[in-house]
Amino acid sequence: MRLGVNVDHVATVREARQGRQPDPVSAALLCEEAGADQITVHLREDRRHIQDRDVRVLRELVKTQLNLEMAPTDEMVSVALSVRPDTATLVPEKREELTTEGGLDVLGGGDKVATAVRRLREAGVRVSLFVDPNLDQINESLRIGAEAVEIHTGRYADAAGSTERDEELHRIADAAKLAHRVGLEPLAGHGLDYQNVGPIARIPELTELNIGHSIVARALAVGIAEAVREMAALVRFHRAGVPVG
Ligand code: PXP
Repeated sequence: MRLGVNVDHVATVREARQGRQPDPVSAALLCEEAGADQITVHLREDRRHIQDRDVRVLRELVKTQLNLEMAPTDEMVSVALSVRPDTATLVPEKREELTTEGGLDVLGGGDKVATAVRRLREAGVRVSLFVDPNLDQINESLRIGAEAVEIHTGRYADAAGSTERDEELHRIADAAKLAHRVGLEPLAGHGLDYQNVGPIARIPELTELNIGHSIVARALAVGIAEAVREMAALVRFHRAGVPVG
């Protein structure tokens, strides 16, 4: 299972002073050295954290894989076509939200999503769609030509009690199974942390997790390299029974 580390919130701290530090690119390189298999960034329409230059410099320096999260807009498709990330993950975006709140409405989104998928794929960029664990959304993702779906784990992470959490976990597991069966690569992310990652990492069809906020938060205590090493060890442990440490 691959671990994608999202460094958006390193840029959030930088943008708090609109200065130069901390630098998400330096952080990304440390994450790679510590075992991240991918660097993920979300270039938001309002540029509240990651900036265009960050994405360009990351493209030059990232040695693993670069995953660009983006809204399916003409502006962002142009950025992706010029930067050429290894993967473009299409996400819904609302200006007023604190973070990406729900999955992309592939079914009800009209031509916008399908057009973005087609333009990116024609340019050779792999496309993943960030969707809720909903079987219809997954079938539609396949129909419009995506290669992967990232299943939104936010409701699982926010579940109020163990009954709701188990229901969400089952939804995610069923969605991963369906995606795998129809030939879409099933990935997952959002709201995962050191406490809740285990059951998700044990879903056998999932091949990649994208985790940001909890790793950056942990980095304040132990440094970003150690925070990534701890998460990578946890994922390995839950996946394959490899001891932590
Ligand atoms: N995956 C996607 C598609 C996201 O939009 C985000 C948040 O930017 C993440 C993963 C990471 O979520 P978190 O920061 O809660 O770990």
